[in-house]
Amino acid sequence: MSLTSASSPLAGRVVVLTGASSGIGLAAARRFAAAGAKLVLAARGAEALAAAAADCRQRGAEALLVPTDVGDALQVRALSERAVERFGGVDIWINNAAVAVFGRAADLPLADFQQTLQVNFFGVLHGSRAALELFRARGRGRLINVASALGLVSVPYMSPYICAKHAIVALDSCLRLEPHPPGVTISTIAPAAMDTPIWRHGANRTGRRIQPLPPLYGPERVARAILRCTLHPRRMVYVGGGGRLAVIGHKALPSAYEWLAEAIVPRTLFARGGAARSDGNLFQPSAPPMTPRGGWRGLILRRRLALGAVVLLAAGGAAAGVAAARRAGAGRGPRRGRNEGPDRAAA
Ligand SMILES: NC(=O)c1ccc[n+]([C@@H]2O[C@H](COP(=O)([O-])OP(=O)(O)OC[C@H]3O[C@@H](n4cnc5c(N)ncnc54)[C@H](OP(=O)(O)O)[C@@H]3O)[C@@H](O)[C@H]2O)c1
Repeated sequence: MSLTSASSPLAGRVVVLTGASSGIGLAAARRFAAAGAKLVLAARGAEALAAAAADCRQRGAEALLVPTDVGDALQVRALSERAVERFGGVDIWINNAAVAVFGRAADLPLADFQQTLQVNFFGVLHGSRAALELFRARGRGRLINVASALGLVSVPYMSPYICAKHAIVALDSCLRLEPHPPGVTISTIAPAAMDTPIWRHGANRTGRRIQPLPPLYGPERVARAILRCTLHPRRMVYVGGGGRLAVIGHKALPSAYEWLAEAIVPRTLFARGGAARSDGNLFQPSAPPMTPRGGWRGLILRRRLALGAVVLLAAGGAAAGVAAARRAGAGRGPRRGRNEGPDRAAA
């Protein structure tokens, strides 16, 4: 969707966006800015947030930055108040901020679970309540919560994140069932794995180097889906066919899905080489500079080449098998029809 700010239906709309300084949030901020929206950008790190706001202003948008820890209900309330104070109201509220932790559920410190749930789930709850309060008063508004395909299926070594994402999907379902003015909509975004910095930002308790799960898509796809959803709201938006396929596969054949995930994920999530234990951005803001992409293009290319090689080998093997079978068939002389066998002929 390409929108110029003059013709855009988003021109002048007030958008609150959390996790706006990196990855999907930064990609979405840039798109909203280009579409002429007025932006209220939130994340913990003030420096990276200032860079995101400057980026949006360069694209012609008004941008207010409000350093906020979404896990803190009071800070989210202050974010809402600052938005109203500056722009007079909020049209669109996007809860996108999140953190990740990699490690075995049985071994992870309890504090990792608590902090991940605090940011990824309670952050969304705080943001949703603040948004719905504003929307109820005006009778309209779009609430968009960024969950994940991992809010509907699971993989090993990411349990706190996955528990929080499942909780967001559940929360959104509950919110949609409760009464709101007809102009208020609640949408859940469920992206597959994206090429963003989250795979580096995440706390790592595995002792292994982490790399993104395949297949990997660009964060701009999610940004586009979010913008589309503000104009044409839907209850659930999947981004990236890999995630959708996993959800369908899990529903149809749950045991087979679990067997595959257990076998494949360790082979793809862990890169070669060890890594020191790190907190990543679990308890502290991520270190600037921040970018929408995570710098995994090389990995994407290598995986595509590997997949291409496997497909070629499989196709070559199949073709060789067919040719061999034909040759063997030809060596046996002319084929007999079903009713032409010697037994039948003799009978
Ligand atoms: N990348 C993927 O593969 C993928 C797949 C599915 C869904 N998602 C979802 O997409 C969303 C964006 O992820 P991403 O990949 O773009 O991650 P990212 O690049 O790591 O960006 C995360 C953003 O959230 C902010 N943040 C973290 N903790 C916060 C807190 N307590 N309060 C306020 N802001 C906080 C970060 O800034 P500070 O650190 O400065 O606070 C940063 O701006 C998340 O909800 C994620 O779960 C991502």
